[in-house]
Amino acid sequence: MCVDLARFQSISVDAASPRTCFIAGILSILIALLRSAWSWTNYSRQATELDADRTSSRVLGVDDEEEATQDSRNPTDSHAWERQEKEATDDNEMAGKWPKSNSMKYPAPPSPRSSSTSTSIEEASEVIPLLTLFKMGQFELSHRVVLAPLTRCRTYGNVPQPHAAVYYSQRATKGGLLIAEATGVSPTAQGYPDTPGIWTQEQVEAWKPIVDAVHRKGAFFFLQIWHVGRVSNNEMQPDGQAPISSTDKQISPDPESGMVYSKPRRLRTEEIPGIVDDFRRAARNAVEAGFDGVEIHGAHGYLLEQFMKDGTNDRDDCYGGSLENRCRFAVEVIDAVVQEVGARRVGVRLSPFADFVECADAEPVALADYMVRQLNVHEGLLYCHMVEPRMTNVDGRRQIPHRLLPFRKAFNGTFIAAGGYDCAEGNKVVADGYTDLVAYGRLFLANPDLPRRFEVGAPLNKYDRSTFIIRDPVVGYTDYPFLEDDHNGDLTILA
Ligand SMILES: Cc1cc2nc3c(=O)[nH]c(=O)nc-3n(C[C@H](O)[C@H](O)[C@H](O)COP(=O)(O)O)c2cc1C
Repeated sequence: MCVDLARFQSISVDAASPRTCFIAGILSILIALLRSAWSWTNYSRQATELDADRTSSRVLGVDDEEEATQDSRNPTDSHAWERQEKEATDDNEMAGKWPKSNSMKYPAPPSPRSSSTSTSIEEASEVIPLLTLFKMGQFELSHRVVLAPLTRCRTYGNVPQPHAAVYYSQRATKGGLLIAEATGVSPTAQGYPDTPGIWTQEQVEAWKPIVDAVHRKGAFFFLQIWHVGRVSNNEMQPDGQAPISSTDKQISPDPESGMVYSKPRRLRTEEIPGIVDDFRRAARNAVEAGFDGVEIHGAHGYLLEQFMKDGTNDRDDCYGGSLENRCRFAVEVIDAVVQEVGARRVGVRLSPFADFVECADAEPVALADYMVRQLNVHEGLLYCHMVEPRMTNVDGRRQIPHRLLPFRKAFNGTFIAAGGYDCAEGNKVVADGYTDLVAYGRLFLANPDLPRRFEVGAPLNKYDRSTFIIRDPVVGYTDYPFLEDDHNGDLTILA
């Protein structure tokens, strides 16, 4: 039966007889019942679709998390990963179990704060959050998959080598963001063999072709500037002197990695401005070499953190004691670098929750909160790159703790989260507005075309941790395979 509902409902009750009114009443009730049945069917259908999406994403998320999180602790220390990985399930198992398609439905990433804008590159229902555009200050990023800084120890004599141009340009995409490995600001900044520097003109000149190679691919390139402080030994230091630090407390030898650290020398108060100047010069040199900006390494137990954290700062001068005093050195470095190259070229990496190389703070939340407020002092300071706390075991599964949101909310610029992320988790945190960008370490190391693989849901190359830190200019460095299109246009995995 076909009823013209609109016409029927428009019958004036006043103009109708009591019998008509009665029939009209009965019909109205029937119509109301029909309408609610219709909406219920619709609602149930939508709910079922939503549930299916949630289930598929949860199932993928669960599988991915289980496969991807290999460490009971978050492997965020650039040099402590070896030990951590021994304790862990091998996330290389996830290669080959990667979701075949990335067509999960995500809400479009929320619009970031006024300083930046976001635009979906596809319809909202098909959008892959990690592959959406993002404006980081003046940098128009074409996706949110960032190369995390990764020390590779292939820089002979601390002078950047041509093979680094191959390595970085392999990972460069038009509009992508790469952060180069930790790079020493001075001769005393070294703690590991064959790591790059940026304190001499020779080093600056050697960086130039590497930066050019990345820029030719259309990517943006930041240099991480670094001082290891006490994470060193006399042999690594000029004239065999003691490494410098906030403290004279020595790091215990690590029996597993065999690393032995020398007793550091506590910096005198009047020496500190000189170290601040080293960072200033490094930033200026980085810009001269062509980098788009610098990331100040304030994480992982190195010099800035040795001052920041109460476990390693036992000073009684104006750089020790209160939170403000402990952060003074880092704040001075940030101020100097901002003054030198401008806030719009400066990012800062922090790992308040980490305790690598015996560098921990009793109140990491207060520390992070204070540092983020200090970053905000500089209008337009480009990004805050924060490392997740160690993974926790929840319901028998290792999970990223996701505790960075308060700092993301408090920070005025772009926020980058790092540590243990895979494709599904990265998409989720971008879609949720938990972070603007996600930095990938080991997955990017082993997959030079990581954003492309995320886009097509391709399997990932397995990384080989035995080649993370070796001197070879090719093996484990530039020889990880790319996905290639075959003649039929289908994807062939060359791994
Ligand atoms: C081989 C290797 C080298 C690293 N070097 C650095 C470094 O130079 N600077 C830094 O801040 N973090 C460094 N890290 C930490 C990574 O940037 C990243 O935070 C960590 O690998 C966790 O991210 P992932 O789970 O995506 O790998 C290094 C990690 C690895 C595995």
